[in-house]
This record gives sequence, C-alpha cells and structure tokens, in this order.
Amino acid sequence: MSKRFNVVFVILLIAFLAFIGCSGKRGPAGVSATAECLTCHADDSNIRAIDGQWSNSIHASGSNIDRNTPPCSGCHTGQGFIGRISNGSIDTIPQPDVINCFACHEPHTNKNFNLRTMAAVDLIQGGTFDRGTGNLCANCHQARTPSPDIPLTEGAADSVFITNPFSGPYWGPHDGTQANVLSGQDAFVFTGAAYSNSPHTDEVTNGCPTCHMATPFKNIAGGHSVAMTYSEFGEESDLTTGCADCHGDLTDFNVDGTQDSVATLLRNLRTILIADSLLSPDTTSITVKAPLRTSLVKAGAMYNFLLIYHDGSLGVHNTQFTMDILNASIAKLSPENLIASNR
Ligand code: HEC
Ligand code: HEC
Ligand code: HEC
Ligand code: HEC
Ligand code: HEC
Ligand code: HEC
Repeated sequence: MSKRFNVVFVILLIAFLAFIGCSGKRGPAGVSATAECLTCHADDSNIRAIDGQWSNSIHASGSNIDRNTPPCSGCHTGQGFIGRISNGSIDTIPQPDVINCFACHEPHTNKNFNLRTMAAVDLIQGGTFDRGTGNLCANCHQARTPSPDIPLTEGAADSVFITNPFSGPYWGPHDGTQANVLSGQDAFVFTGAAYSNSPHTDEVTNGCPTCHMATPFKNIAGGHSVAMTYSEFGEESDLTTGCADCHGDLTDFNVDGTQDSVATLLRNLRTILIADSLLSPDTTSITVKAPLRTSLVKAGAMYNFLLIYHDGSLGVHNTQFTMDILNASIAKLSPENLIASNR
C-alpha cells in the first residue's frame, strides 16, 4: 500500500520537476534535478531489487524495530539511529520507522550510496572496533552495559546483586554481541585465563558485510537481506558465497565441526548455570533467575555464556575466542576450582 504510494509519488515528483525544467521557469536547474533523480529512480535501476532483499531482512520486518524510547531507539529505529550518528543524542521517536535505506545511506543528501558512517566505533563495553564498512553495523550490533554493571575482571568486586524483578531476567550484555566477539573483546576475564583470536578478527577487513552481504541467493539471503541462512522447499541452506575467497567452496558453516563443538560447550555451560540457580531452567528462553545474589566469578561466567549465546554464530565469528571463554567459564565453575578460589 505505502510502497505503491511511494512509487506514484516519485513519478509525480519527477514529472513535476521535468515540467518546471521544460517550462523554463527554473531553467536548467530543474532539468538537472530531474536527471539527478533518474540516476537512481530510473526504470532499470537495481533499487527495487535491493529493496526486495532488504524487505526480507529482520531490519525491515523484525518484531522489535519499534522500541522508540532511549536508549533503545538509538539501535531499534531508523530515525533514532540517524540522530545518534548525526549529533550523538538518543531521543524518543514519536513515529518510529524500521531500519530503512536512509538509516544506512543518505541518497537524497549526498546523491550517492555512501554509508552514513564508516567511523571506527568506541564500543560501549570498552575497546574499539575498526573494520571498514562493518563499522556501520558495529554501532548497533555490540554488547550493552548490564544493569547492574559488573567489572569484567575476577577479583574486582565480591558479589553481585541483581534485584530488579522486571529487567532482572534480561540481565547481561543484551542481544547483539557480534562486534565484541568478532574483535575478541569485552569478555569476563578469570584470573590466569588468556583468550586469543582466530584469523577472522584481523583478516576479514570489512567485517560483517563480507559474509552477511555477500553475493545474494535470490532475494532471501546475502545482499541487503543480511541473512546467512535460507530455506527453500523445506530445505535449510547456508550462504557460503562470502567464504569462498578464503575457504574455497564450502557446503556449510560447520568448518572442522566448529559449530557442533561450540553448541556442545554452550549446552554444558548452560546446564551448570541452571544447576547453580543462575539461569532459569525454562527451555523456551534464556533468562536470568532474578532476584539473584551471587559471586562475581559466577556472574562473570554467566555474562560469558550470554555474550556467546547472543552472538548467534556458534563460533564462526571468532572460533578461538569463543572456545577459550566457554572452556574457561566451565572450568571455573567446576566444584574443585570454586573451592580453590574460595567462592
Ligand atoms: C543516490 C540515489 C538517489 C537519488 C539521486 C535520488 N533518490 Fe529518491 N530515493 C532513493 C532511495 C534509495 C529511496 C528509497 C527507496 C525505497 O525505499 O525502496 C528513495 C525514495 C524516494 C522517494 C520516496 C519517499 C520515501 O521516503 O521513500 C521519493 C519521493 C524520492 N526518492 C524522490 C526523489 C527525487 C525527487 C530525486 C531528485 C531530486 C531523488 N529522489 C533522487 C535514492 C535516490
Ligand atoms: C540501527 C542499528 C543497526 C544497524 C546499523 C545494523 N543493524 Fe542489524 N539489526 C539491528 C536490530 C535492532 C536487529 C533486530 C531487530 C528485531 O529483532 O526486531 C537487527 C537484526 C539483524 C540481523 C538478524 C538477526 C536475527 O536474529 O536473525 C542480522 C543478520 C543483522 N542485523 C546484521 C546486520 C549487518 C550485517 C549490519 C551492517 C551492514 C547491520 N545489521 C546493521 C540493528 C542494526
Ligand atoms: C547498542 C544497540 C542496542 C540498544 C541500545 C538496544 N538494543 Fe535491543 N537489540 C539490538 C540488536 C543489534 C538486536 C538484534 C541482535 C541479534 O538478533 O543478534 C537487539 C535485539 C533485541 C530484542 C530481541 C530479542 C530476541 O531474542 O529476539 C529485544 C526484545 C530488544 N532488543 C529490546 C531492547 C530494548 C527494550 C532496549 C532498550 C532498553 C534495547 N533493546 C536497546 C541492539 C540494541
Ligand atoms: C543496515 C544498513 C543498510 C541498510 C538498511 C541499507 N543498506 Fe545499502 N548498503 C549497506 C552497506 C554496508 C553497503 C556496502 C556493501 C559492501 O560494500 O559490501 C550498501 C550498499 C548499497 C548500494 C551499493 C552497492 C550495491 O549493492 O549495489 C546500494 C545501491 C544500496 N546499498 C542501496 C540501498 C537501498 C535502496 C536500501 C533500502 C532498500 C539500502 N541500501 C538499505 C548498508 C545498508
Ligand atoms: C566470517 C564471516 C562472518 C563475519 C565476518 C560476520 N558474520 Fe555474522 N554470522 C556468520 C555466520 C556463518 C553466522 C551463523 C549463521 C547460522 O549458523 O545460522 C552468523 C551469525 C550472525 C547473527 C545471528 C543471526 C543469523 O543471521 O544467523 C548475527 C546477528 C550476525 N551474525 C551479525 C554479524 C555482525 C553484526 C557482524 C560484524 C560485527 C558479523 N555478523 C560478522 C558469518 C559472519
Ligand atoms: C578474509 C578471509 C576469510 C573469510 C572471508 C572467511 N574466513 Fe573463515 N577463516 C579464515 C582463515 C585464514 C581461517 C584460519 C585457517 C583455517 O582454519 O582454515 C579461518 C577459519 C575459520 C573457521 C575455524 C576453523 C577451525 O578449525 O578453527 C571457521 C569455522 C570458519 N573460518 C568459517 C568461515 C565461514 C563459514 C565463512 C563464510 C561465512 C568464513 N569463514 C569466511 C579466513 C576467512
């Protein structure tokens, strides 16, 4: 409905500008404005195709793209993001729109499809993310500060008390932790533990778009759908076009069984956290069993679990880092080690 309106509007506007141009009232300026519009709004342009990919993305159709109050609006609405990037302020957005073309591009201001920002991102939880076109994504796809906050180093506090009955179950680094995991930062560090990174951290120089916006499969994966998987005729497939330059032809993402191993580690750590009454045993969602008073070490292990769980790549983003922090968290929560560290 609104799309058809847009198309009609564009046609009318172009006709109007052409009319002004031809009638000479505005002279050549009108003519060039029309020509300028047609570089993008021509009949054979790919905007419609890209629009189709984008329409199939969670950015267009997600069920949480209307969270219009601060701080949520800065990541969950198009206009909120534009405001945040332009002047750093995060406002209430009275008429929230989804993460649309104008959130990421400024075609009418700049007359091109350059990205709204490619500046390096100072991550909320600390450290910098700097990977070309991927910086755009990192502004939103990064961990947030949990409430209550915890220091990310063992020994920096004794206990943690999660009181709020409403937000408590959602305690943690929030849902889009990919920038932190890809860059290998902001995990909880146990005394004596060392985390290292896989080659993706340094070698995928544009980060996210290299894999998520690779050559699309129809309009349902890759490109502006940013989806990595698709389902056709009831069959699930992985989009591996973005891996080919480095890995050759892959049939799926589970290189060397990485995703299987990470799924097992996540399951094991979750079982321990449930047994320790930190996570709710509810199998339909991952929630913290608030109100909760616990040691910093245990809260840190739970933070690490949530950081990796919400990353959603089962180790692909940064295999070594993912394995290291899950293994360290599991080891730390084993009874003998807890006794040794007097927790
Ligand atoms: C650099 C490319 C580019 C140029 C040049 C351009 N546009 Fe657009 N325009 C876009 C994109 C992208 C959209 C969004 C399309 C979509 O939502 O699918 C858009 C959408 C629109 C819309 C629909 C309103 C909306 O919010 O979706 C109108 C009207 C419009 N353009 C008019 C113009 C006019 C008039 C000109 C010339 C003065 C012009 N455009 C030049 C890229 C461009
Ligand atoms: C303005 C903030 C913002 C920007 C910029 C952004 N995203 Fe998102 N993205 C979101 C939000 C919010 C969601 C979840 C929406 C929902 O669930 O309603 C999301 C969803 C996604 C999803 C789907 C997740 C799922 O659960 O299936 C992928 C994949 C994704 N984004 C990748 C990217 C990539 C790649 C980029 C950069 C090209 C990017 N995003 C840029 C905010 C953003
Ligand atoms: C720094 C950016 C950022 C802020 C601020 C933010 N979110 Fe999100 N949120 C995201 C991203 C990115 C995703 C999608 C992550 C993914 O699917 O991997 C997301 C996902 C979600 C989801 C979907 C969870 C799910 O499992 O499907 C909900 C609900 C949500 N956010 C609510 C909120 C609320 C409420 C606020 C404000 C209190 C908020 N967010 C603030 C970036 C943000
Ligand atoms: C979440 C952010 C995001 C949104 C929303 C978005 N784009 Fe893009 N767009 C990008 C990124 C990132 C690139 C660069 C991709 C690359 O270089 O790998 C890009 C590139 C492009 C390009 C040039 C390269 C190409 O694929 O031809 C066009 C044209 C374009 N976008 C149009 C659009 C239109 C039209 C919309 C809305 C329907 C849109 N974009 C929405 C992030 C976005
Ligand atoms: C090396 C390729 C690669 C890079 C780089 C990459 N991703 Fe992913 N991403 C994947 C794969 C593969 C998955 C797992 C898909 C699956 O198994 O369902 C994934 C999963 C995700 C998910 C979970 C939802 C989904 O689509 O399955 C989100 C959201 C996401 N990535 C966002 C990002 C963001 C944001 C960045 C940059 C900070 C990024 N990714 C960088 C390959 C990549
Ligand atoms: C810019 C190059 C580059 C791209 C793009 C890339 N990778 Fe990688 N990847 C590497 C390198 C280098 C390694 C380490 C050497 C190896 O194990 O093959 C690696 C390792 C991995 C590992 C860890 C394997 C192990 O045994 O530790 C997985 C899993 C993986 N990549 C999956 C993917 C997937 C899936 C994609 C596409 C969605 C992808 N990669 C895209 C360069 C890349």
